[in-house]
Amino acid sequence: MPGHILSSLIGFIACVSPVFANRRLFLEQIDNTTWTFGNDLWNVTQGAVYASKLYFRGSELVGSAAGHYMGYDGENNFVWTSAAITSQGKDYIDVGFSCEEGELHWVIFDGLAGAYQYFINRALPDLSILRTLWRLDPKLLLNGRTYLRDEPLPDFGLYQNATKVQDETWQLANGSFITKYDFSDYVRERDFYGIYGPNVGSWYIHPGTDYYISDHLSQTLTVCTSRVCHGDSVQLNVVQDTSHFRVGEKVAQPAGKIWGPWLWYLNDGAVEDAKRQANNELAKWPYPWLMDPAYQSRGGVTGQLTLSDGRPASGAAVFFGDTDTTRRPSVQGRDYYYTTQADHEGRFTLENVRSGTYGLYAWSNGGALADVYTNFSKSSINIAVGSTTNLSSLTWTVPDQGKRLFTIGDFDKKALGFRNGGPPYQHGVSDRSPANLTFTVGTSEVSDWYYAQSLVGTWTVEFDLAQEALLLGAGGNGSATLSLSFAGYSQSTAMDVTINGQIIGSLGKDIFSSDPSLYRSGKTSGEWRFVQYRIPRAILKEDVNTLGFTVTRYTQWRGFMWDSIMLEWK
Ligand SMILES: *[C@@H]1O[C@H](CO)[C@@H](O)[C@H](O)[C@H]1NC(C)=O
Ligand SMILES: *[C@@H]1O[C@H](CO)[C@@H](O)[C@H](O)[C@H]1NC(C)=O
Ligand SMILES: *[C@@H]1O[C@H](CO)[C@@H](O)[C@H](O)[C@H]1NC(C)=O
Ligand SMILES: *[C@@H]1O[C@H](CO)[C@@H](O)[C@H](O)[C@H]1NC(C)=O
Ligand SMILES: *[C@@H]1O[C@H](CO)[C@@H](O)[C@H](O)[C@H]1NC(C)=O
Ligand SMILES: *[C@@H]1O[C@H](CO)[C@@H](O)[C@H](O)[C@H]1NC(C)=O
Ligand SMILES: *[C@@H]1O[C@H](CO)[C@@H](O)[C@H](O)[C@H]1NC(C)=O
Ligand SMILES: *[C@@H]1O[C@H](CO)[C@@H](O)[C@H](O)[C@H]1NC(C)=O
Repeated sequence: MPGHILSSLIGFIACVSPVFANRRLFLEQIDNTTWTFGNDLWNVTQGAVYASKLYFRGSELVGSAAGHYMGYDGENNFVWTSAAITSQGKDYIDVGFSCEEGELHWVIFDGLAGAYQYFINRALPDLSILRTLWRLDPKLLLNGRTYLRDEPLPDFGLYQNATKVQDETWQLANGSFITKYDFSDYVRERDFYGIYGPNVGSWYIHPGTDYYISDHLSQTLTVCTSRVCHGDSVQLNVVQDTSHFRVGEKVAQPAGKIWGPWLWYLNDGAVEDAKRQANNELAKWPYPWLMDPAYQSRGGVTGQLTLSDGRPASGAAVFFGDTDTTRRPSVQGRDYYYTTQADHEGRFTLENVRSGTYGLYAWSNGGALADVYTNFSKSSINIAVGSTTNLSSLTWTVPDQGKRLFTIGDFDKKALGFRNGGPPYQHGVSDRSPANLTFTVGTSEVSDWYYAQSLVGTWTVEFDLAQEALLLGAGGNGSATLSLSFAGYSQSTAMDVTINGQIIGSLGKDIFSSDPSLYRSGKTSGEWRFVQYRIPRAILKEDVNTLGFTVTRYTQWRGFMWDSIMLEWK
């Protein structure tokens, strides 16, 4: 008998190739497409596509769920063909898994539950989305937490009797909707997010966000349950997204580009503990252990923006992006991106910027710049390693101010301030805006205007120019300029713009490409649009005038998301 035990043990050793960095951090190959790795606190088994059997705190967290996988454009298309410890220190091992498109690394530290992860591109095609995800046991991970929501994930049972009404959106018998889009958020506003239950939590902490694409307005998915995911508790880690919430485009990815490292963190389910860990990570970023010269090569930048009318660019949104400033920030996604906000004197500073050449962009974020609809851009700003580039004073050209006849809402590319505008993300709210509405300049409040216009009908702005007789008379051949700013637009809603009954413009799918924000629970922004019309003196009255927005074509949950309206006399 002892002989039998010995021979099976020898047999076992012979078919396994263990690679021990030290006693507590390990990668063990089981067969040519199976590996187990982890530390004393947790471990997981990686197959060709899925990782499962995630052991932590005495439980196995995947159960009958799908586990961990990665892919681009919404797929599970990365197939792992080999694994190796690619670097190690006295308290960590860096385990790299290779697939045709690149390498996913799991960096395992002694005493840390979870792992840092990063992905290196080798041969990705042009893409819209890149993500890793965990699909875990819904019996253990019942709740979803983002900076905007902290609540139970919809139970799978709810989907059984629900009706699919559109893309990943289900209507319950009582009329309410459940959709993964309700858990979306603004990626650069995140502290941390994840799924948790009474005994265990699984979190994503992204202290550095430079590998997130686009600007302040970039939004994507976070956590969810859904019918396609068979009720698994899903924790998405979408690190590249030029698709959801904007007019989508595929973007080429340079070989060698790194997304991450972020921390996938496991704990006992305490949100406070995840928050504490997120703060620790912020203090440690950028991580000194990542042996990548480009990742470690960083500098800073500072400057001060002043409008040409003398005002400081107070609170402006400041973005460092592509050097090609003709490309919309919403689909910039090739390289690394940085955002900040100017202070009340228009000063801004960014530290830990990867060295390289950037374009600088700034636009109004409301507040003191609420009336500013132009933006600032400057190409070819060089950030050198170890030093701070001082751009000193920069001038943002704004047009000569006409006489403001009225404004409704702030120019900030967001529907904030309007009725139902702003968080939380929620499906179907555009149908709660009225078909007809009258807004009277001077007595109505901004909050009397709704964030989205969708139903067939007319929204009318009444404005009285009786007091402007002098201006209208002396101008003789002068005219007014109407500026319309939209936080988003989803087709195929169509709208006529009228002054005193005369059509001055028609807006719809022939003018604007569609973004999906409004029908995917977006209530703050999608893709920003801006149009201006010259209003000839002849059609204005020295009395009460009407500006009308008449929706002539209805498409459910689609329409115009408002940002701001301004009429000026020039
Ligand atoms: C894995 O091993 C099996 C059987 O030993 C073999 O048929 C297969 O080609 C191997 N796959 C890879 C990716 O090496
Ligand atoms: C993984 O963790 C489980 C539960 O703690 C343990 O039983 C198992 O031995 C671990 N696997 C390895 C390879 O260490
Ligand atoms: C679905 O609806 C049927 C009939 O109303 C009901 O008996 C059942 O409990 C519902 N199932 C779930 C999961 O809500
Ligand atoms: C509809 O049912 C869901 C699931 O039971 C519940 O969470 C929601 O509050 C209900 N909504 C309304 C409007 O009653
Ligand atoms: C800046 O304004 C121009 C002209 O309206 C517009 O085409 C461009 O998209 C704007 N850029 C940003 C970043 O707002
Ligand atoms: C940048 O340069 C300006 C003008 O020389 C100077 O006033 C400012 O203090 C400098 N800023 C920093 C952060 O060094
Ligand atoms: C909106 O106003 C038009 C024109 O007065 C009217 O025909 C229509 O019934 C109104 N719609 C609603 C929903 O009240
Ligand atoms: C208005 O335009 C007409 C024709 O262009 C011109 O003759 C006239 O002088 C202009 N009036 C004013 C007040 O500028």
